[in-house]
Amino acid sequence: MSESRGRRSLESQRFVFVTGKGGAGKTTLTAALALALAARGKKVLVATSRAQHRLAELLGTPSFTTEIQPLRKNLWGVYLVPEVALREYGALVLKSQRLVTLLFDNRYAEGLFHGAPGLREWALLGKAWFHTTEKAADGAPRFDVVLFDAPATGHGVDMLRVPKVILSAAPPGRLRTDAERAYSAFQDPSFSAFVVVTLPEELPTNETLELVSVLDRELGLPVAEIVLNSALEPLFSDDEARALASFGKPHGESAVAQALSIAARRALAERVQAACVERLTQAGKPLRRIPRLAEGAASHEAALELSRHAL
Ligand SMILES: Nc1ncnc2c1ncn2[C@@H]1O[C@H](COP(=O)(O)OP(=O)(O)OP(=O)(O)O)[C@@H](O)[C@H]1O
Ligand SMILES: [Mg+2]
Repeated sequence: MSESRGRRSLESQRFVFVTGKGGAGKTTLTAALALALAARGKKVLVATSRAQHRLAELLGTPSFTTEIQPLRKNLWGVYLVPEVALREYGALVLKSQRLVTLLFDNRYAEGLFHGAPGLREWALLGKAWFHTTEKAADGAPRFDVVLFDAPATGHGVDMLRVPKVILSAAPPGRLRTDAERAYSAFQDPSFSAFVVVTLPEELPTNETLELVSVLDRELGLPVAEIVLNSALEPLFSDDEARALASFGKPHGESAVAQALSIAARRALAERVQAACVERLTQAGKPLRRIPRLAEGAASHEAALELSRHAL
């Protein structure tokens, strides 16, 4: 259902960051993408910063834990928690379990460490990135793709600003070198893809255009596609929509009046969607439509159905 040619397939990316407005369908899309990629034989690690039962339900798997768990064929999951990520990072950098224990088990030191602005967010991003660099025993990447179900727009963008802040503020050292490596991997369009999920309504469209511009222009991050989730399959022509326009409010109590009102509201939603698509297209990014399922998207079956549209 892609509307642009020349798209770089998400299949060839090592890191996919799914972001967008709250409630737009990030978790739903993450699950649909994960199932589609795994079905094509990719080894997929799904990372989430929220202990979401919903994500596991959509994937048809047990809930995520802070340890990477195999979930089903070609699919692993991990719940990212700053404290755990920082502890792991500490262990990696300090290379001494005793030092890590000293640092993290001393309440005073912990308070200091956690007080550093952005460090918590960086810990999540840094851990997600670290898993893209891991190798299996045979030297092949441990995961072909790390899919990150990111926090909603505001927090998601703050999180992405963190490596930049570290680069400008941190003294030379391991933290800065890692931030540099991670940030240049995030900026590399052959390695990373940022996917912005939106809905066919005016406010989400405004927010999406803003977000795309921040990612693209301010942060230099590759927006691979905009995903219009809950897209309507148009039922009415322009003439039909015009004919229905005055029936939005039911004219009376009869079943016919109710039915006309439902049709009129649907026609209006389709026109709003068309206007949103036109505006979104101006962002110059590939636009993918994921259909609205009448029964909602709460089950594994729904995620499987949507996975047919995700790649
Ligand atoms: N394509 C779809 N068709 C029907 N319902 C959908 C679709 N996509 C998402 N939904 C419904 O929309 C709601 C929000 O979806 P989801 O949880 O994926 O959004 P989110 O962006 O991850 O939200 P949050 O910002 O809270 O993490 C859910 O109730 C889901 O069932
Ligand atoms: Mg979510």
